[in-house]
Amino acid sequence: MRKETLRLIFLLLISTHLHSVLSWKKEEFRNCDQTPFCKRARSRAPGSSTLTATDVSISDGDLTAKLTHKDDPHSKPLILTLSVHQDGILRLIIDEDHSLSPPKKRFQVPDVVVSQFPATKLHLSRLTPDPLSSSVYLSDSHSAVLRHDPFELFIRHDPSGHRVLSLNSHALFDFELLREKSEDDDWEERFRSHTDRRPYGPQSISFDVSFYSADFVYGIPERASSLALKPTRGPNVDHSEPYRLFNLDVFEYLHDSPFGLYGSIPFMLSHGSTRGSSGFFWLNAAEMQIDVLAPGWDADSSIALPSHRIDTFWMAEAGVVDAFFFIGPSPKDVLRQYTAVTGTPSMPQLFSIAYHQCRWNYRDEEDVDHVDSMFDELDIPYDVLWLDIEHTDGKKYFTWDRTLFPHPEDMQSKLADKGRHMVTIVDPHIKRDDNFHLHKEASQKGYYVKDSSGNDFDGWCWPGSSSYPDTLNPEIRSWWVDKFSYSNYVGSTPSLYIWNDMNEPSVFNGPEVTMPRDALHYGGVEHRELHNAYGYYFHMATANGLLKRGEGKDRPFVLSRALFAGSQRYGAIWTGDNTADWDHLRVSIPMVLTLGLTGMSFSGADVGGFFGNPEPELLVRWYQLGAYYPFFRAHAHHDTKRREPWLFGERNTELIKEAIHVRYALLPYFYTLFREANSTGVPVVRPLWMEFPSDEATFSNDEAFMVGSSLLVQGIYTERAKHASVYLPGEQSWYDLRTGAVYKGGVTHKLEVTEESIPVFQRAGTIIARKDRFRRSSTQMANDPYTLVIALNSSQSAEGELYIDDGSSFNFLQGAYIHRRFIFSNGKLTSINLAPASGSNERYPSDAFIERIILLGHAPGSKNALIEPSNQKVDIEHGPLWVLRARAPAVMTIRKPSVRVAEDWTITVT
Ligand code: NOJ
Repeated sequence: MRKETLRLIFLLLISTHLHSVLSWKKEEFRNCDQTPFCKRARSRAPGSSTLTATDVSISDGDLTAKLTHKDDPHSKPLILTLSVHQDGILRLIIDEDHSLSPPKKRFQVPDVVVSQFPATKLHLSRLTPDPLSSSVYLSDSHSAVLRHDPFELFIRHDPSGHRVLSLNSHALFDFELLREKSEDDDWEERFRSHTDRRPYGPQSISFDVSFYSADFVYGIPERASSLALKPTRGPNVDHSEPYRLFNLDVFEYLHDSPFGLYGSIPFMLSHGSTRGSSGFFWLNAAEMQIDVLAPGWDADSSIALPSHRIDTFWMAEAGVVDAFFFIGPSPKDVLRQYTAVTGTPSMPQLFSIAYHQCRWNYRDEEDVDHVDSMFDELDIPYDVLWLDIEHTDGKKYFTWDRTLFPHPEDMQSKLADKGRHMVTIVDPHIKRDDNFHLHKEASQKGYYVKDSSGNDFDGWCWPGSSSYPDTLNPEIRSWWVDKFSYSNYVGSTPSLYIWNDMNEPSVFNGPEVTMPRDALHYGGVEHRELHNAYGYYFHMATANGLLKRGEGKDRPFVLSRALFAGSQRYGAIWTGDNTADWDHLRVSIPMVLTLGLTGMSFSGADVGGFFGNPEPELLVRWYQLGAYYPFFRAHAHHDTKRREPWLFGERNTELIKEAIHVRYALLPYFYTLFREANSTGVPVVRPLWMEFPSDEATFSNDEAFMVGSSLLVQGIYTERAKHASVYLPGEQSWYDLRTGAVYKGGVTHKLEVTEESIPVFQRAGTIIARKDRFRRSSTQMANDPYTLVIALNSSQSAEGELYIDDGSSFNFLQGAYIHRRFIFSNGKLTSINLAPASGSNERYPSDAFIERIILLGHAPGSKNALIEPSNQKVDIEHGPLWVLRARAPAVMTIRKPSVRVAEDWTITVT
């Protein structure tokens, strides 16, 4: 009887869950006023902090100080530590004084700062003495200044005396110390039917951070809103919620809201036309709320600060201050500095940056076979077929529904024969079924997160009653890692990769659809302290599982929904359950750009929109835009109509196919950009201002974006669009990618648009490598020849790079790759080696050659080209800009130069 009732309740829950997908249920989630720490912090006035810095000294190469309340000198002090790292990075830690035995050690997020980072610390030896402040050198041109009374930290550009960044300039700093509970304390917090016991009471931290010479601030994903962050408080601000960072499974999220979604990266960048960019990162995994303050928010304040700055206010429910300041000055410098702390994005396998076909669900093996063969029949390349939760036996991950999928190995190997891969879903909720070995093992070993009473936490998710592995614990992570071995994951083969979903974690019957904040993790850490990083540790353990499965030779591919700072090291992320409408198509760009700006370069939105049925026109536009997302996957909810590319009539199939073809042609360019991200942190897709940092017209443009430094893409976000206004920045011209037509830079063009494509331009002065032959999958294109597209600028010159490796292993780390720079100037194209001098060609031998060179913007009249050192002459003729496209315009082409990409050569146009 009890079981039956539970079943009914569960079905009810699932059905409310599914119904709630019809609209965002605001009341299910807390706002700032319902979140006591946020309400308290926001109500404080500037100047309310009375902390002063005392006992400033240098200890162990760091600057240390005590922070005490001036009006209460006997209060417990806080301990401040400042350390300086290479490349202008300042780290600030503020925590309770451990020598005074606080009731509990506060949580400092482990395993996010990369292991190499501590070694970049510069040993401080000298303090500049001054009774009012203490300063240390941060770089040749910058100092960090700690003002003593009231306590304030700022970074100064020494030659000019200008400030770059500061903390506590408005004296809003507050740090709630842990206390022993007294009889009168009522610390419980209630939200809807949930009670949070809060055994340690209030423990929040808040402070103000100011960005100087800034026109806009960006970052702090994940949310569906504009790229440039709008003010949330102050004069003329129409909505009053701060930006929230709290990983949640939000059904049918709105397309323009400060509300936080599945992931959290507490990293903000500023940008301005005069002095460039700077950045601030607070490594803290508790719920965070951030206000961007509108000019004049502090009108009553007596604090005098330079104008032209953006003030922000950061509030977190728990944790410590572990904050990093980045001085830039260019946006790319800030990314390099941020990823020096949290790691650069891992290098993906080539197949994973090609096109992915997903739906909830491909029903059975026959369905998989059918979908797969339709791609072949229609000559549409694709690389990965995905299986959602229904492929499992009763939502028990690592199992197969053997009626629907009786031969998983054969199914995968059929795909693998065509160079294709499969992805299956593995979520963190483990079905509490005593016959399920994973559950038996996890419960026996005590590997689950505990509830506040110390029992295994039991929550509802897809399988019904579920528990969640505590992947904060390294031992539990290694246990999880082993679940991906071929012998443990029965039915998996080397071409199978993984999708982590619901890892916020999603708990259907939990407060705000997640785990209660008083649940307990390894080491007595409360869930509230690490919530935003739960999905991160799970993603990490899964990626390490694939790494171990492949004996460390094969790059993992794991897509995750939840994310935190550092997730870029473990795989890709997607923007969750969007909707098939034009607004969601539009907001996908600021979302992807913001993720890129915060290190998470490999991301994309569900092409077509997850909920609802896109009109064919919307679907086609989504493919045309999605072909430029770093992560390019179509996906749909199970209630939607089937929407594989061939289901909307011949013309639409053609258009979708062409969009996918463009992505495949550009794979060499994308792969080169992924390698750039992997080595520098600079994202694959970028806001225009990252390439044109002093052009103010670009600062709030989030409808267009750059793919690398050479392509500008403008989405079409409205139905039946006949025209688009496209701003092309810079002094140089731009060439239409499709037609080669040339457009002036520095102006907004009103362009005609057709159904055939969205506007995409190649910047004059750049060279892009393409592969123009199409096959079934990217893997099958490995040995295909290249086409170089040279877009000449006004001085008839251009430059570009090409990076190639085996696409799957880690041998590139030992130098097994080809990296070339192509330079065209004075009529001569030169290929220069950028790989380490000592024999990378031997380490990655390749016969790949260049079959065509297209010259855009070259003066007419040249007939031949001379190739050296082979001393061969080849013809220059008019050839199609796109070989496979009927009616492609003819452009100046060097045909069959047949030079090898791995070698040094020159080609002179005569
Ligand atoms: C939620 C995910 O966001 C969605 O992509 C997936 O299809 C469903 N869970 C089912 O696994």
